[in-house]
Amino acid sequence: MTVPVICIDGPNASGKGAVSRAVAERLGWHRLDSGVLYRGLGLAAARRSLAPTESARLARLAANLDLELRGDRVLLDGRDVTREVGTEEAGTGASRVAALAPVRAALLARQRGFRRHPGLVADGRDMGTVVFPDATWKVFLNASPEVRARRRYNQLRDQGMDVSLAGLFEAIRERDERDRTREAAPLRAAEGAFCLDTTHLGVEETLERVMEHVRTTGRPTPPASPGGPGGGSPRHTPSGDT
Ligand code: C5P
Repeated sequence: MTVPVICIDGPNASGKGAVSRAVAERLGWHRLDSGVLYRGLGLAAARRSLAPTESARLARLAANLDLELRGDRVLLDGRDVTREVGTEEAGTGASRVAALAPVRAALLARQRGFRRHPGLVADGRDMGTVVFPDATWKVFLNASPEVRARRRYNQLRDQGMDVSLAGLFEAIRERDERDRTREAAPLRAAEGAFCLDTTHLGVEETLERVMEHVRTTGRPTPPASPGGPGGGSPRHTPSGDT
């Protein structure tokens, strides 16, 4: 029986992290924050002094990455790196290694391994386009660059990090540009995705809109008896809202 997946893609600070966590909680489904894998890999590469051009070595490192997700904690090579992976520097490092096709290929099976009963909510850049192309629901969140920089600023300040709004704005702009223009799995909305601009929406409101989309399109659970005409892979139902 195919395990249902909700993909939530979008650029940095578009709201996808908070919303996917909340959707997963509501439904009692698993969650994949795919960005953490790239962030962990970026850190592991920096520790080994690997340059972002060393594609083959980075791909080998990705395939053997000793990264453990324990609730909200992240362990890399057995060490707690939760705070470190959350920094904007880690985001930039992630985006550099994430541009390499062999690295992305090496992380594919691992990401797909998160697809377990009763369902998965996956967020990132290419969940709907590459990792789970057969997902029942594909959501793409976006917001103005100014609002996203401000959100990220507040988030990092809340965590006690010393950051500047102007510096963050520039770092996010550069990272978005790299993610959008790379050849391997560029950041873009999947075909037929439910696209939502969250510039003027809070997390609660975004959550409600996504939940409504999930309720009113596709199926929340796969059919009990596979094999019949409706028993194959769940199909994505375009919302007409793009
Ligand atoms: O989402 P987050 O900010 O944690 O992602 C960090 C970086 O990892 C992104 O800027 C992007 O370059 C990369 N990433 C990716 N594909 C994903 C998730 C993250 O390329 N599915």
